[in-house]
Amino acid sequence: MSTASWPAARPSPPALAIDRDASLRDYNSFGLPATARTLVHITSDADVRRLLAHPEHGRAPKLVLGGGSNLILSRDPQAVVLRVEVRGRRLVAERPDAWIVEAGAGERWHDVVAWTLDQGWPGLENLALIPGTVGAAPVQNIGAYGLELKDRFESLDAVDLVTGRSVTLDARACAFGYRDSVFKHDAADGGLAGKSLITRVRLRLPRPWAPVLGYLDLERKMSESGQTAPDARTIFDWVCAIRRAKLPDPAQIGNVGSFFKNPIVSAEQCRDIIGRDPEIVHYPMPDGSVKLAAGWLIDACGWKGKSVGRAGVYERQALVLVNRGGASGAEVVTLARAIQESVYGRFGIRLEPEPVIV
Ligand code: EPU
Repeated sequence: MSTASWPAARPSPPALAIDRDASLRDYNSFGLPATARTLVHITSDADVRRLLAHPEHGRAPKLVLGGGSNLILSRDPQAVVLRVEVRGRRLVAERPDAWIVEAGAGERWHDVVAWTLDQGWPGLENLALIPGTVGAAPVQNIGAYGLELKDRFESLDAVDLVTGRSVTLDARACAFGYRDSVFKHDAADGGLAGKSLITRVRLRLPRPWAPVLGYLDLERKMSESGQTAPDARTIFDWVCAIRRAKLPDPAQIGNVGSFFKNPIVSAEQCRDIIGRDPEIVHYPMPDGSVKLAAGWLIDACGWKGKSVGRAGVYERQALVLVNRGGASGAEVVTLARAIQESVYGRFGIRLEPEPVIV
């Protein structure tokens, strides 16, 4: 009789958390109704690999959901929805030239900004109160008040959604642009959209700290308060106050922040437009092109405060579309198209949506 025994049982890995027929209403900041047939909660790189090995869902198309603050659900997603819930924040390195901090992709962006300031590592204050998660920040290279994520970016970790391999990408590999990155482009376009899931982001906060104050709204705060050398905490408070005055809080009024990108036109095109509309708000870019304020264009077409069904244009900032209560994704898309058409009709400019429309 054999005396061989079974190998000692290894502790089995925790099972994947999978919800069936899950409502996505609380998982998108516009508060749009949609249902995921399958919703998988991802808390680690290993969870992604477990999902890829799953007999039913492993090879299915996938939709990565961060804080849902840059997403318009126009219908139920025909994909397995991955909700990124990777947590954690830590100081990775304290170098003479910078603090390097790391945060899990599922952390709330604003909480990380506030935490770095509390720890005495300033540098993110201009990006306070931007809704959404850390993992979504590089996807659209979030930016506000003269600073973009790319200006504070060190590297990120992501998992390949086909092979399950973990990779680290630097800024070059992320190909950041204005509200743009490699994660917004399809494979056909050399991009990684739908191909990888960001799990952790590392930020570089330069030492010594220097304020970023060029933006008009911040200059106004400086002259109002008489402070010529505000510290990072003061800038954080100013940015929060400016945003609260202009932008709706998604916890109260569903929205995704700016709905359209500010269009960039050539200097000739801009001269043409200024000839017809001398008031147009525009900013010259370093390469000679000109960025136009999409909010101004939409406002000039008379959209501020208007609605299509239960989707509307915010009263205090025409670049922001809002949920007036119970809006459907289709209503938002109809409103967005109507705005695009009227801006094109009057100015000959095509506005490009900032959020991903599913
Ligand atoms: N304007 C109008 N009418 C409006 C809205 C704006 O005339 O209804 C004019 C303003 O008076 C101002 C100009 O347009 O002269 C620009 O407006 P604002 O300074 O509010 O900034 P924005 O261009 O509308 C951008 C970002 C915001 C970011 C702010 C501050 C984009 C698409 N949006 O908005 O980002 O917070 O600058 O840096 O680049 C976001 O991406 O979700 C977002 C909120």
